[in-house]
Amino acid sequence: MIQKSAPLLFLAPMEGVGDRPFRKTLASIGGFDWACTEFIRVSTTPHIPSLLKHYEPDDTAPILQAAQIMGSIPEFMAEMAVGLAAKGAPRIDLNCGCPSNTVTGKGAGSSLLKTPELLHKIAKSMVDAVSVPVTAKLRAGFSDTSLFRENLLAAEEAGIAFLTLHPRTKEDGYGPPARWDLIREAKQLLKIPVIGNGDILNVGDLLRMIEHTGCDGVMIGRGAVANPWIFQEIRAHFRGEEYRRPTGAIGQYLKMFLSHCPEEMQSKTKINKLKQLMSFMMKESEHRKTILCRTYTDEKEICELATYLAESP
Ligand SMILES: Cc1cc2nc3c(=O)[nH]c(=O)nc-3n(C[C@H](O)[C@H](O)[C@H](O)COP(=O)(O)O)c2cc1C
Repeated sequence: MIQKSAPLLFLAPMEGVGDRPFRKTLASIGGFDWACTEFIRVSTTPHIPSLLKHYEPDDTAPILQAAQIMGSIPEFMAEMAVGLAAKGAPRIDLNCGCPSNTVTGKGAGSSLLKTPELLHKIAKSMVDAVSVPVTAKLRAGFSDTSLFRENLLAAEEAGIAFLTLHPRTKEDGYGPPARWDLIREAKQLLKIPVIGNGDILNVGDLLRMIEHTGCDGVMIGRGAVANPWIFQEIRAHFRGEEYRRPTGAIGQYLKMFLSHCPEEMQSKTKINKLKQLMSFMMKESEHRKTILCRTYTDEKEICELATYLAESP
C-alpha cells in the first residue's frame, strides 16, 4: 500500500505529561489534526459543573481539542458529555484504557474491557446525549485479549464515530511492544475508522504501522513528548521534503512551555515539569543525568542549562 498524503494525526491524551501547558506548546509547533485532554474522571458522585472547569475548547486552537472522560456510570457520563458539548467540545472520547488501579478499582478505564455490555451502555448513553461525535480509546483487553472482538463491536454498535486502539492489555502496562497485529484485526472487523496507536517514535515507525495495519489515522503520545517536532517531520515526509528543526528550537520550546504554565504555579513544580519533559527528550543523551540530577534555584536555570546541553552535539 502506498500512502500519498499524511494520515490523520492525533496527539495522544497523557495524564500528568500532556497537560494544558504541554498541549498549548505542542499546538504552537503544530502538524497534528487533533489534540485531546488527559482523562477527566467522572466519579460515582460527580459534581459536573466543577469537572467542566477542566476543559477549555480553545487551548490548542486552531487545532481541535477533544475532551476525554472516564467513568462507569452511564447517566453521569451522559450528563458530563452534555456539559462538555455545551462548552464547545468538538468531540468527546470515552476512556477504556487507563490501567491505574485506583481507577480500575472503581470499574472505569480499562475495567470496562471486562464487561462489553457496560462499555456499550456507557458509550451509547453518551452518543444518545449529544450531537457532537463520541469516540472511544481502548486497550486490547484487561488481563488478556479474550474479549477483544466483543469490546470493539460493543463500541461500534453503540454508535461511536471512530475508535483508537492502543494494542496492549491492562496487564501489559507499557511493557511489551504494542501488538500492531491487533490494530489490523480491528480494522478488518469494524466498519468505523480505526486509529492506530503505540510505539511510534519516528516517521519510519508511522509508515510501518500504516503499511502493517491499514489504519485510518495515527495517534502519537510519548514519541511527541520525546520529539515535539515529530508531526512536522511526518508532514514534511509526505510533501517529499526533509524537516529541519530550526536552530534554537529546543530553547524556544521550553520557554514557550513555561509561558503557558499558570502564573500561580510554584517554581518547584515548573522545574519538575521541565525535568519530566527533558527526561523524555534526552532519553538517549549523555547529558540526561546532568540535567535531571541537579538542584535548581528557579525554572530559568534549568531552562538555560537544558537548552545549552540539548543543542550541543
Ligand atoms: C504518562 C501517560 C499518561 C497517559 N494518560 C492517558 C490518558 O489520560 N488517557 C488515555 O486514553 N491514555 C493515556 N495514556 C496512554 C497514551 O495515550 C497512549 O495510548 C500510550 O502511551 C501508547 O502510545 P505511545 O506509544 O505513542 O505513547 C497515557 C500514557 C502515558 C505515557
